Amino acid sequence: PSCVLAYSGGLDTSVILGWLQDEGYEVHAVYVDLGQPCEDRQAILKKARDCGAKSSQIVDAQEELCRDFAFPVMQFQAKYEGWYLLGTSIARPLISKVCLQIARDLGAVAYAHGATGKGNDQCRFQLAAEALNPAVEVIAPWRIEKFRKLFPGRTEMIAYCDKNNIPVKASVSKPYSSDENCLHISYEAGKLEDLNVNGVELVEFGMTVSPRKAPDAVEEVTIAFEKGVPVSVNGKTLSPLEIVKTLNTIGGRNGIGQIDMVENRFVGMKSRGVYEAPGMTILYTGHRVIEQLTMDRDLMHLRDSLAPVVAEMVYYGFWYHAKMDALLAFNKEAQKNVTGEVKLALYKGNVMVAGRTSPNNLYDEGIATMEGGGSYNQTDAEGFLRIQGLPGRVQGRITPRPY
Ligand code: ARG
Ligand code: SIN
Repeated sequence: PSCVLAYSGGLDTSVILGWLQDEGYEVHAVYVDLGQPCEDRQAILKKARDCGAKSSQIVDAQEELCRDFAFPVMQFQAKYEGWYLLGTSIARPLISKVCLQIARDLGAVAYAHGATGKGNDQCRFQLAAEALNPAVEVIAPWRIEKFRKLFPGRTEMIAYCDKNNIPVKASVSKPYSSDENCLHISYEAGKLEDLNVNGVELVEFGMTVSPRKAPDAVEEVTIAFEKGVPVSVNGKTLSPLEIVKTLNTIGGRNGIGQIDMVENRFVGMKSRGVYEAPGMTILYTGHRVIEQLTMDRDLMHLRDSLAPVVAEMVYYGFWYHAKMDALLAFNKEAQKNVTGEVKLALYKGNVMVAGRTSPNNLYDEGIATMEGGGSYNQTDAEGFLRIQGLPGRVQGRITPRPY
């Protein structure tokens, strides 16, 4: 039988590539390029073939990741447990989709990945795969006892590679594990498991400087949104990926978007993570500012009540799901008027508002003004509040509230 492997070029998936062949599979390696650090693409392709892969290929899906995955989540203002912008979570369904497309073309029956049985990533890979191709066999070697017995640690994996002429790069092993794409970098495990360790001090961030080392001057950046979608930065029309990359550079040099949190994994355990997402942090804030001008109050409150639902679904891995389709369709309608331009002031890790305009601005100075006159009649508030207060007055008569 043949199998598609979501291949990263690292030690784990290289060992898995070898082991799947030992188990009798013909393996096709797929490297889905989402902007992870990669010095040499040709070297990765060659390495996969050196490991015995029947075929190996790289698929660049960065634009799609930003346009069709990260932006709709951002437009929902969805943050897991209030903080996490879901940079790893949202990448997984796309990796699965690309791998399954290739599996279909090649007639492969199985889909393998290198996520462990303890984490969230296995959930996202598998739930996506099962929804897209109910017939696919998902192979997660780390969940198979036989595999874990063979490879209890890095030493055994390296020995296996040496024996099978699988080239292993003596990578400088960091005191934590990280996952990078164009949206963010996450850091977990190793020394970060100790909550007494200061995460943002321990981690060597790849996208952002420490706010302490950021320039001692405000940097302004202007972003235009159309129907909730960011379309330009500082007056320049850019593709979704270019927008994210441009804002990563600008946000990165100002120390924007570093967080350290303890989060609830889908498998039940709490886990500690450190993240940096400079560009997406700026986009979430800028988008919110335009919503503040353009979105109807009750619609906003309803949408906001659904944002944690979307965040949870993305985090758990239910991207390809009827409920998600309906939520995204709802928000597309809700974003109809979210058009405008925001000017943000970045300073040492902070994102502040410097200005905003919109053709759909619902803010009416004539109504809001504290000056005399205006088109708001204060007398109207009298009846409004008598009616609003009616249930409370009745309640207060029947069962007086102590005060
Ligand atoms: N805790 C984050 C999440 O669940 C990051 C996971 C990082 N994954 C990894 N393979 N390093 O989305
Ligand atoms: C893993 O366990 O494979 C990485 C961490 C996670 O998926 O949460």
